[in-house]
Parts: sequence; structure tokens; C-alpha cells
Amino acid sequence: MDKLLLVDDEKDVQYSFRRIFDSPEIEISTADSGEDALKLIPKLRPDLVLMDVRMGGITGLETLRRLRQIDAKLPVIMMTAYGTTQTAIEAMKYGAYDYLLKPFDVPKLKAIVFAALKAAHDMKQVVSFQPLLESEDYEVGVVGRSEAMQRVFKLIGQLAGSDATALITGESGTGKELVARAIYYNSQRAEKPFIAINCAAIPENLLESELFGHEKGAFTGANTQRIGKFEQCNGGTIFLDEIGDMSLPTQTKILRVLQNGAFERVGGNSPVKVNVRVIAATNKPLEQAVAAREFREDLFYRLNVVRIQIPALRERRDDIRLLVNYFLRKFAQSQKQTPKSISSEVIAIFENYHWPGNVRELENVIQRSMVVAKGDAILGGDIPVEISTGRLSTTVSPTVPETQSVNPSSDSSVPAVQRTDSASTSPTDLVSIARLLFYWAKKDSKLKIIPAVERELIIHALEETKGNQVQAAKMLGITRATLRKRVDKFSIKQMLSVS
Ligand SMILES: Nc1ncnc2c1ncn2[C@@H]1O[C@H](COP(=O)(O)OP(=O)(O)OP(=O)(O)O)[C@@H](O)[C@H]1O
Ligand SMILES: [Mg+2]
Repeated sequence: MDKLLLVDDEKDVQYSFRRIFDSPEIEISTADSGEDALKLIPKLRPDLVLMDVRMGGITGLETLRRLRQIDAKLPVIMMTAYGTTQTAIEAMKYGAYDYLLKPFDVPKLKAIVFAALKAAHDMKQVVSFQPLLESEDYEVGVVGRSEAMQRVFKLIGQLAGSDATALITGESGTGKELVARAIYYNSQRAEKPFIAINCAAIPENLLESELFGHEKGAFTGANTQRIGKFEQCNGGTIFLDEIGDMSLPTQTKILRVLQNGAFERVGGNSPVKVNVRVIAATNKPLEQAVAAREFREDLFYRLNVVRIQIPALRERRDDIRLLVNYFLRKFAQSQKQTPKSISSEVIAIFENYHWPGNVRELENVIQRSMVVAKGDAILGGDIPVEISTGRLSTTVSPTVPETQSVNPSSDSSVPAVQRTDSASTSPTDLVSIARLLFYWAKKDSKLKIIPAVERELIIHALEETKGNQVQAAKMLGITRATLRKRVDKFSIKQMLSVS
């Protein structure tokens, strides 16, 4: 259950909060003044504080300042009526999580509260990086005993003891964020905030202002000053996830923060000093982005000083059994059940599968199988068929050389779709193939990517089926009539009859 503390001297506000957040998952407590809140917080240990800026007694701002001396991490959302916005912005410099304008827009209020609760959980979560033993009780940990993971643990330990910048690389789902949290949790900054930003999820034009804030009037819509994450997170750790997706101007600013500990807000010209530790992660090959001049070389070297490369799960198959047991215990515990066992047949299947989605995929498969399994054990029939048959990993194989024929002027700087021990097409791979194709489409304005791909797929299907249109259409998931239309449209017939 999440504990929420509302600090406001208006009974009406207290009442409406109780109504808005009336849920068995949330417990609301109230304090009528800043002084009361400061007394209550150490006893109550709330997950989130919502505080009015203007109250009788000490102000919200002063309360926040004093609270920060006791607890630097507790997320606080400031609430303010029009006219006191400036104070709320000031509060962001003291590390307030966000501010809300009165009267409240309920959906917005809920969205901010739930995001802040998630941030609070993430910060509190103990992430151990010691390899867990099978007999140990469940706790969040980076699990693994393979040699490759031992090297990762060693690096986490070294990084936790220093303030160095780190770059974590690895395929999707290998545990990059988990490792970042383990470094943070074990570092000297563990008592300070941890803020994770997914650079790929924020539109390019907004990321810079999200990170560094902006001055009033910096661009259309910038009606007030805004404090960015670097300023908010002063003293703490920022996790820049998917840093390979960051635009060049923002990269330049990041480099400056790393070198000088200073930046300017967007539209501002006085430098803001900060002390923030940066941990970055990416699943893109940054070296290639550097070669394509999409990633600054100097920033790359600055980040790459300490590099943690997390191996794909298929490269450390001896960890699979341990992870399976860990997830079985973890899910059982969260549902207050006794852990199910798992048949050795299933373990063997898991150890042979190629796990394109890595640990995340394994985690999801276990969770699903636990729901499906009727008895006390997970058996072969309980796991998804594509895993038990390994079907996707052997029969269909859209390989990189084939897709390259889409673009005759193949470009060496294109990020390669990583080929695994067996070429595969799971949804995860499809995403990376699509990303690659999109990358080409973006670079080559003359290339009409969708028809080009369609044409290639049809040619392949017809070659494979020796020109049998019924079979080819079936293979591609289209009707024979559609296939025939495309064959005409792309003049494929002619080409096939020549060959
Ligand atoms: N070694 C591990 N031990 C235990 N759990 C792990 C391990 N590695 C990954 N996980 C779990 O797998 C899931 C995916 O991990 P995480 O989000 O850290 O991956 P990621 O590399 O950041 O993925 P993406 O590139 O898709 O963002 C999480 O639920 C995480 O807890
Ligand atoms: Mg991640």
C-alpha cells in the first residue's frame, strides 16, 4: 500500500483528496501545517508528500527545505494557486518532484501522483548486485553466476565505490536498467535521488528542456520558467536510458555538464551549476552512430571510460536455471503462494532457446506459464509453443544480407541487426529489423521503403515456392488476388521468367 501525506490547511482540499484517492492501494494522511508535517514524516514514512505552497506557519518552501535535510529522496509535489507559481518553481530547485496548479485537473493530478509513486518505489528498491544463492530469500538482485556476469558484478562494485560516469550496453532486456539501479543503490549517492529518463520516449524537441529546463518565453508555449531534471536531481544520479537516441545539440549539453558540471537552461544565458552523476545506457551500437556522425565522438569517449557490456542471455546459458528459480520465487512471493516447481524437460527447453528478448522474455514466459500451469509444477505443455518448438528460431530466417537488397547502396554505417546463433524472427527481432529499415528510409529520401520491402518479400516467397502463387500468398499472409496485383504492379513476373 502506498502512503500519501497531504500537507494543506484547507479542509476542503483534504476532503477532495480523500475522495479522489479513495482506493485500498492508497492510504492518505493529512497535516495542517509544515511544522506538523515535519513531525509526522519520520513516524509515518510516507511514499509521497503533496504540499501547499502557502500555509499558516512556515511556508511550503521552507518546509521542503527542512525536509530535505532529513530526507533527500522523498518525492514532494508542491501545490500552488495562480500567482505563487514562481515559488513552486523555486521549490523544484530544492528537489520537489513537480508542482500542480490549483484548481486541480483531476486526471493530471492522478498522473503526476502515480508517476511520483513509481519514482519513489524505484528509488527505494534495494538492488543487490551480489550473485544470489538459490537458497536465499527473494530480494531484488542482479542474478547470475556465469563468468560473464561475474565480470559485470565486479564492475558494478567498482563503479558503486566511485563517482565515475558509466556506459551500460547490451541487447534489449539484458538488465541494463537493473544494473544502473544496482550501481546507484550501492553508491555513496544512495541517499540522494535517482532519476531515470528514457531519451527515446521523449520527443526530440522536448528532451533538452526536460533535462535542462527552460526560461520563460524560450519558445512558444514556454509560459513559465521550468526546472529540468539535472537541476532537480542535484547531488543525485541521473540514468540516461537509450542515450543513442539523443539529438546532437542535447549531446553537446550533456558533454558540457560532464566536463564542467554546468549548463544553461533553454533560452537562458547564465550557467547553472550542478553535481550529478550520470549513468547512460543504450542497446544501439554507439560506435556505429559515431561513425555515421550521429553521436558525438568526444561524448562517446567520455561515457565509455567505464563500460559495462551485459552479455545476451544466450551467451550465458548457465544462468538460465538460476534465473528461472529466482523468478518462480519472486512471483510466488508477490502472490503470496508457494513457488511452483518446474520440470527438467522445461529447463532443458529454456537452456536451448535463443531468447531474443533476453531476461525480460524469460521473466514474462515464467509469469505466463505460472498462470497457465494447473498443478504444482510447470510442464512442457504450459510454456508458449514457439519456445518449446524453437520454431521461430529455425524455420523463418530473414537475415541481414537479404534485407540489405532493399537498398542497393548498402551503407556500412547502418546499425546491423544483430544475428544470433540462429537467425530468428520474434516480435523483438521484427522491431529491430523495422528500425533498421526505417533508418534506411530516413537516410535515403528516394527509397520508397514499404513498396520496396513488399516487393522483396514477394520475390522471396515466389522463389521459395518455385512460383506457386497460392503457397506464396499463404506464406505472406495475403490473398492470392492481392499477390497477383502486386506481382503485376512490381513487374515481378517478368523478372522471374527471365531467371
Ligand atoms: N540478471 C538479472 N537478474 C534478475 N532480473 C533481471 C536480470 N536482468 C534483467 N532482469 C529483469 O529483466 C527485466 C528487464 O531488465 P531491464 O529493464 O533492466 O533491461 P534493459 O536492458 O534495460 O532492457 P531495454 O533495453 O529493453 O530497456 C526486468 O524486469 C529486470 O528486473
Ligand atoms: Mg531499459
